[in-house]
Amino acid sequence: MREKWATRIGLILAMAGNAIGLGNFLRFPVQAVNNGGGAFMIPYLFALLFLGIPLMWLEWAIGRYGGNVFFQGTCPGIFYGLTGKKKFSYLGVLALWVPLVIAGYYIYIEAWILAYAFYSLIDHIPKLTGTDVKSLGVFMEFFKSVTDVKVSYVFYLAVLLMNFIILYKGIVAGIERFAKIAMPLLFIFAFIIMVRVLLLETPNGTAIEGLNFMWYPDFEKLLDPHVWIAAAGQIFFTLSLGMGAIAVYASYIPRNADITLSGLTVVSLNEFAEVILGGTIAIPAACAIFGVAGAQNIAKEGAFTLGFVVMPGVFSTLPLSNIFSFLWFLLLMFAALTSSIALVQPLITFLEDNFFFSRKKAVIVTFLMVFLLNQIAIFVPDALDEMDLWAGTIIIVLTALIEVIVAVWVYKGDILEEINRGGYIKVPGSLRFVLKYITSLYLIALLASWFVKYIPIFIAKTDWNALVTRVILIVAFILLLVLAGKVRLREVKE
Ligand code: PHE
Repeated sequence: MREKWATRIGLILAMAGNAIGLGNFLRFPVQAVNNGGGAFMIPYLFALLFLGIPLMWLEWAIGRYGGNVFFQGTCPGIFYGLTGKKKFSYLGVLALWVPLVIAGYYIYIEAWILAYAFYSLIDHIPKLTGTDVKSLGVFMEFFKSVTDVKVSYVFYLAVLLMNFIILYKGIVAGIERFAKIAMPLLFIFAFIIMVRVLLLETPNGTAIEGLNFMWYPDFEKLLDPHVWIAAAGQIFFTLSLGMGAIAVYASYIPRNADITLSGLTVVSLNEFAEVILGGTIAIPAACAIFGVAGAQNIAKEGAFTLGFVVMPGVFSTLPLSNIFSFLWFLLLMFAALTSSIALVQPLITFLEDNFFFSRKKAVIVTFLMVFLLNQIAIFVPDALDEMDLWAGTIIIVLTALIEVIVAVWVYKGDILEEINRGGYIKVPGSLRFVLKYITSLYLIALLASWFVKYIPIFIAKTDWNALVTRVILIVAFILLLVLAGKVRLREVKE
């Protein structure tokens, strides 16, 4: 028997945990501010409607189908089952490779978060001495000291162990139980921090001015294709789409349980966490302390600077600074941990489904691979960015395109029937058209523009670090390809 989620709320919180991650609180505000502010929401909503929601339902449907009909939760097996052709299992390999590579660096970032949470608790974070962006220099130094391997490695081992323990316990006793605690706390902490940020007022500015700055619509930006690409990329990353991570969780849903309303609920929770909570915390806080001009410079520095340099700086000016700082990093910790377990689970499921590994054995083997990739991200300079670029930005679009081709174009049955089976709400027939034409074309256009943009950069970068990283990534890919050749479908008897 395949394990099944114990409760509906547990499933929804686990899926929400999967989707809600660092992307919501750090990546989104930076993307929005740099790509037209309020105007960014137009391509963003467009991508949500035509990519995000359709693909979310699609991944839930193929996952539930695979898990219940041939005991397969990952794309190699699901594609084989959907098409009846063994060669399609090779097309699913990217959906194992992408989450593995993302886990390869995501877990290391988690280590920094744990370190910051710890240093906040023991009140060991520097204090802001000036009122301009330059005074963040000490925080930059502090960030460098925390991310130095000698310090961060200890925290890395701790977060690796946390991930291991949760996954070792399994779907219900591990993932579901953890999500039921972590997700409500995440929302509570985010709410407290949001309210505190909204009350910020200094001679430099206020949080309300920050909201004005963040959401001021620069409609001219809509003419720039990069803004549209950025919006679609954000939708993919934040909803965990195009990597099989959602389908894997869905493979533990009973055959006739609702997925239409549950899927939509997860999207809504993610969007609330992203646009309302994520959009109201970091950038408005930066504006209140450093003024609009300061925040403008900060946004250009990217998501890590915002989360690890600017936010501790902001909190250090408040009474009870260490408590707010601790809450912020605990919030990020929950967001990241519920996502990283979702990134590691696919390979575990793949080994269990196809090689009859016991859960314990599958978890141990998977963590050995994750550990090896982590070492690359930790010790090879720039590897983290290289891994994020390929796995987290470009290949996810290709994986999503393959999913649509297999499940909508090649699959002989009706995918919409699969989506609507047992649904509390029924998805209209027009979704078939959307998936078949609009989503597919959208994905092809995106993929083409990524390649035009990144192939020259890829070719130009030939230093040893980039080379070593790429060789390891390719070796991992080939290994998974070999394993995919051994996919075995099993008939599930209920
Ligand atoms: N959606 C997560 C975030 O917003 C990242 C993630 C991607 C998690 C893929 C799991 C799978 O940070």
